[in-house]
Amino acid sequence: MRVIKTVKEMEGVAKALRRSGKSVGFVPTMGYLHEGHLSLVKAARRENDTVVMSIFVNPIQFAPGEDLKKYPRDEKRDMELAEKEGVDILFIPSVKEIYPRKNLTFVEVKEITEYLCGGKRPGHFRGVTTVVAKLFNIVMPDRAYFGKKDFQQFKVIKKMVEDLNTDVEIVGCPIVRERDGLALSSRNIYLSEEERRSALSLYKSLILAKRTIESGEKSVENIKNRIRDFIFSFPHVKKIDYIEIVDQNSFEVVEYVKEGDLIALAVFIGNARLIDNWVVGEEL
Ligand code: PAJ
Repeated sequence: MRVIKTVKEMEGVAKALRRSGKSVGFVPTMGYLHEGHLSLVKAARRENDTVVMSIFVNPIQFAPGEDLKKYPRDEKRDMELAEKEGVDILFIPSVKEIYPRKNLTFVEVKEITEYLCGGKRPGHFRGVTTVVAKLFNIVMPDRAYFGKKDFQQFKVIKKMVEDLNTDVEIVGCPIVRERDGLALSSRNIYLSEEERRSALSLYKSLILAKRTIESGEKSVENIKNRIRDFIFSFPHVKKIDYIEIVDQNSFEVVEYVKEGDLIALAVFIGNARLIDNWVVGEEL
């Protein structure tokens, strides 16, 4: 595995790969790798000649007061995991490499970023789309892999490449969960043992929603209330950031749930903000 730390070197390698006609699959991450990230590498490995992974904790997608400073990092372990999974090129730029001067240019996807995480974390998606657009320009991949754990992020990136005519195929991959159902996340490390048990309320509440819908309930208000009461029945639930049932393309709220709608949750368990989601009708 080749480790690259500068934009210049990465650009040179990317250009050579393009010229050689080899397909490049790209997995952008913020590191502290787990099986969720590695599932994206597996998909990229299957479908491309070369797999590039980036690790970059992108400061501009964190709002003041969020966890940028304490975001978990372990470069050595990440390198081992990436190499074991078959990553060919690991791009680990510094903040100075990616933002060498004051950044005056931003990529912003409108409307669909106003809901869910976008509504609760102003500026977050602008930071994500800006850095992903920059990374796409540097790495020039044929395909890029995103997890549906961050369902809204996946859709926002898809819209960005569509609107900007970016020649990258965006591939969405299923949520990877622990054996008991907890969605893998780098932020799970913030949880104490007791909080970890309460974190399971997100997944379990999605199961409850699934059963409720299967029993014939269609009222979004009723389903949301059941989810809320269920989650609050666990200790250490500091705050429910949102529980929403929305159209999976427009992200607008719906009144009656139908197949293909998205049930999305963001909950503070202790100090960790955890998210999870389920697309109605899909496996859970
Ligand atoms: P990060 O949170 O590190 O996630 C990197 C990728 O891994 C994202 O596409 C995310 O959806 C995926 N992922 C995380 N947990 C997953 C799980 N349990 N199952 C499946 N996929 C999972 O998302 C980001 O970084 C950043 O916003 C980034 C896109 C890198 C831009 O900075």
